[in-house]
Amino acid sequence: MCLPVSLLQVLLVFAKEDSQSNGFCWACEKANFRCSMARTPESALECFLEKHHDLVIIDHRHSRHFDAEALCRSIRAVNSSENTVIVAVVKRYVISFFLFVTRYVENANMMACYNELLQLEHGEVRAQFKLRAGNAIFTALEQSQEAIEITSEDQVIQYVNPAYESIMGYQQGELIGKEIIEVPKSEKNKPDLLETINSCIRKGKEWQGIYYAKKKNGDSIQQNVKITPVIGQGGSQRRHSSMARIHSMTIEAPITKVINIINAAQESSPMPVAEALDRVLEILRTTELYSPQLGTKDEDPHTNDLVGGLMTVSRRSFKKFETTQPHHLPSHLTTPLSLSDIPPRIAQTMENEDSWDFDIFNLEAATLKRPLTYLGLKIFSRFGVCEFLNCPEATLRSWLQVIEANYHSSNSYHNSTHAADVLHATAYFLCKERVKQSLDPIDEVAALIAATVHDVDHPGRTNSFLCNAGSELAILYNDTAVLESHHAALAFQITTRDDKCNIFKNIERNEYRTLRQAIIDMVLATEMTKHFEHVNKFVNSINKPLAALEENGNRILVKRMLIKCADISNPCRPQELCIEWAGRISEEYFAQTDEEKRQGLPVVMPVFDRNTCSIPKSQISFIDYFITDMFDAWDAFADLPNLMQHLDNNFKYWKGLDERKLHSLRPPPE
Ligand SMILES: *[C@@H]1O[C@H](CO)[C@@H](O)[C@H](O)[C@H]1NC(C)=O
Ligand SMILES: *[C@@H]1O[C@H](CO)[C@@H](O)[C@H](O)[C@H]1NC(C)=O
Ligand SMILES: *[C@@H]1O[C@H](CO)[C@@H](O)[C@H](O)[C@H]1NC(C)=O
Repeated sequence: MCLPVSLLQVLLVFAKEDSQSNGFCWACEKANFRCSMARTPESALECFLEKHHDLVIIDHRHSRHFDAEALCRSIRAVNSSENTVIVAVVKRYVISFFLFVTRYVENANMMACYNELLQLEHGEVRAQFKLRAGNAIFTALEQSQEAIEITSEDQVIQYVNPAYESIMGYQQGELIGKEIIEVPKSEKNKPDLLETINSCIRKGKEWQGIYYAKKKNGDSIQQNVKITPVIGQGGSQRRHSSMARIHSMTIEAPITKVINIINAAQESSPMPVAEALDRVLEILRTTELYSPQLGTKDEDPHTNDLVGGLMTVSRRSFKKFETTQPHHLPSHLTTPLSLSDIPPRIAQTMENEDSWDFDIFNLEAATLKRPLTYLGLKIFSRFGVCEFLNCPEATLRSWLQVIEANYHSSNSYHNSTHAADVLHATAYFLCKERVKQSLDPIDEVAALIAATVHDVDHPGRTNSFLCNAGSELAILYNDTAVLESHHAALAFQITTRDDKCNIFKNIERNEYRTLRQAIIDMVLATEMTKHFEHVNKFVNSINKPLAALEENGNRILVKRMLIKCADISNPCRPQELCIEWAGRISEEYFAQTDEEKRQGLPVVMPVFDRNTCSIPKSQISFIDYFITDMFDAWDAFADLPNLMQHLDNNFKYWKGLDERKLHSLRPPPE
């Protein structure tokens, strides 16, 4: 059948002209495609209704200009759009799973756009043409006077045309889905006729001859029959249909490319190869390719022993550190407080601690800068942590106090209020249905502890600063994940040093190991150099079929994502809280820049100069680069519409300030 291949109609939907939209315009011209441009979803739809384009390319990089997915849905709702290929232009990677089958990762290079168009033309657009042609062919079959029947390779009836129905007296519905054997045969055929036909078809040959068919009413009729095998087309034995491709996302990480290549190869592979590749994919998607030292499974004793050995080595090397910076339980904190002693004023500020809009700064003020201890007591008791650890509440109290005492109150951001905030977000996420389903009680306990300790003894400077300054910590940790390693190590050091605050003292050795491993993994996951790796792996793994979600590998990815999101959830908080946090982090970064200048060190974040910084701009970049995609993914998993609403409001707030060229946290008073 002759398929139209040139003069494709392309619709570009871009809110603004930029190098990317220009790239596609130019590419359409070069490819000799007809190109229309729309700026808004409304005009796009109008244009589509008029021209029914073969290819629609939608800008999905800036979710704020318009809702690309909503537009996709409205185009799909148009009847004639089923053969239209829709492509989303995305940033680094993309989070929406089902709507856009095809993605194009932002690249304004004209040749890249041109190549993409050609690939689409020869791939999906042509496939759609074939489907359309297929519809035409079926229409012809419907009109044919000859009885026609189509079966699958395993002889299940897939189609009969109206002529077949009227000649044989059956209704379509009585036949489709049945095996041929189930349909009564006429006794007038020679006994070995069916076997002859089958062996002929199996060899891939056509069979033609006289055949007696049995009508529904029992009469036999003589027919001149032709049976033609269709080889390699039906694909009924290939499980790897296009569904597999829809589920695996086009993410620009190399590992994702690998996964996509394998997916594509599977489709043209024989069964055993496809199955082997399935196992390969399983490994690639779930296990620890990047950090083998933490990828140990509970059930593997050899790896556990290795981890145990490494722990001992590490502990010895901390000795030196311990002597330089003693962390004792401050004497004024040794009188334990208990939940029942909590002054009503404080208890009141914690009443709505299970709500996302809980105001941590009220608690900070009411507790005279000890929000972590009080909120910790309340949340740990809500989750039954003492029961799980089999530890007295007094031990938990001392532990929370000593951990809080090791946060630096002099940091404007990384003090114990941030820890309490992350603990709050963690507890909130743990209550989400899908999160609960994915995790075990031990994971919950690990997450709450990890959140509490995740920034303990933070010096208020970034990793790069510590490395540049040649600090003792950077030397100890070889410039690698310096702070995160320190938080994790110190947390265990202070906890296990003194029985009075050792919340782990009553749990079994194996349980301790599992818990310790999970806590360390989560604290290390907060390191931002691994941000995209964690988010990518999470996205890849939740795209797998639900049945596989309960596995250990996925639990690790969910826990990492959980603490990462809790750690940088400030932009998803109610606006006033979000603004306060933005002020605090900016101040901490300004202080670092001041010190870098004073000491003649490289300035690692030059934009955070208190004389020139635009806080709105810095927040916009942070949200664009780190927050949006991560929370899109987390929301898709955990269902957090209220956070996404706050995020949207806050983004608009910063945008509003930036458009007025303001650099401050808030607009000046009228
Ligand atoms: C769309 O398709 C459906 C089902 O094929 C049909 O019933 C309906 O009338 C069509 N609507 C339009 C506007 O063509
Ligand atoms: C955290 O820092 C802020 C200054 O940004 C300060 O007002 C607050 O009291 C500190 N909180 C604690 C618990 O140290
Ligand atoms: C730092 O590097 C040295 C030399 O490679 C190694 O022996 C040591 O274990 C490393 N330390 C840490 C904490 O990774």
